[in-house]
Amino acid sequence: MSSYLDDIKRRAAKLGKTIVLCEGEDKRVVEAAARITREGIAKIVLVGNEKECMRVAPGIDLTGITLIDPLTSELTGKYAALLYELRKEKGMTELMAAEAAKDRTMFGALMLKAGDVDGYVSGACHSTANTLRPGLQVIKTAPGTKLVSSCFIMIAPEGGNKYCKDGVFVFADCALNICPTSEQLVEIARASAETAKVIGGIEPRVALLSFSTKGSGNDAKFGNTVERVRKAAELAKETAPELTLDGEFQFDASLVPEVAAIKAPGSSVAGSANVFVFPDINAGNIGYKIAERLGGFVAVGPVCQGFAKPLNDLSRGCCTDDIVLTVAVTALQAGA
Ligand SMILES: CC(C)(COP(=O)(O)OP(=O)(O)OC[C@H]1O[C@@H](n2cnc3c(N)ncnc32)[C@H](O)[C@@H]1OP(=O)(O)O)[C@@H](O)C(=O)NCCC(=O)NCCS
Repeated sequence: MSSYLDDIKRRAAKLGKTIVLCEGEDKRVVEAAARITREGIAKIVLVGNEKECMRVAPGIDLTGITLIDPLTSELTGKYAALLYELRKEKGMTELMAAEAAKDRTMFGALMLKAGDVDGYVSGACHSTANTLRPGLQVIKTAPGTKLVSSCFIMIAPEGGNKYCKDGVFVFADCALNICPTSEQLVEIARASAETAKVIGGIEPRVALLSFSTKGSGNDAKFGNTVERVRKAAELAKETAPELTLDGEFQFDASLVPEVAAIKAPGSSVAGSANVFVFPDINAGNIGYKIAERLGGFVAVGPVCQGFAKPLNDLSRGCCTDDIVLTVAVTALQAGA
């Protein structure tokens, strides 16, 4: 497991990308910035006030880190003008843009938009919504997609897991989209398959999950979620034929060959899936935490996907190691 995580960092280091960390007022972030720089995983721009960084993380060597304070930086004016251009049609005035550009997360998102850094990581002391909203507003989605989504790279425990042959699964969307439509489930499937290749290094086999396998159950009177997933499977086969994808499946039918043989005979994915798309954020969030806490998997993420440029969110409970890893993942996305 640790060798897998080390491999992510090694691959990132080869790319020489520059990542902005927006929360220079947080000790864990400053420590991570120093370690990333020391280990050559990426070049770091730290958004914050120098004195404040030194105060929260005394004794940390900031050599090699570019520190920028939006309150005093000459870049803030340039970014305010960029923000105004991007948001004027949404009612933003020049005055509002000048104020908003001083916000550290917005400043980081604007650095990314301007091409002054290759990736953005924030969220150690901001909620997911406040971390991602600047990205949603200014970075926007990549060509060919209308949806930003997220996934977790689930790394099998030491000693392996008999169903996880490659040592890695991808679970989506466990953190961002609350209740995706069929079309959005297809977007999540496509993006997660790409992340499985780029970050996970695996050949994706995507299962669209439900409490029903191939029509075994229905909830027509209670939200019609089975139909939503079934339609997504149909739509994906039409619009993304390059994907190895099937559904709708119960989790066991997607994973366990013996169950698949009974419940979904003939499916190219049942019994061997490695990318799992959950029907909504409730199922996804609960599912990844069960795999983590009961199954011993390590959850890396949420990894954001679908942004025009790489931007990732940290958990507020994160530790320095998590930040280092998220920066490495962001650098890999920037290099893809
Ligand atoms: C991500 C999230 C914050 C977006 O919130 P929101 O209230 O929809 O955001 P807004 O309405 O302010 O939208 C901001 C912009 O982002 C866009 N947007 C929102 N969600 C989007 C998505 N998934 N993909 C692409 N664009 C999106 C909106 O269209 C809007 O664009 P515009 O202002 O240019 O018109 C929201 O979906 C959320 O809170 N998700 C759950 C996050 C969470 O709590 N996770 C906890 C588990 S870790």
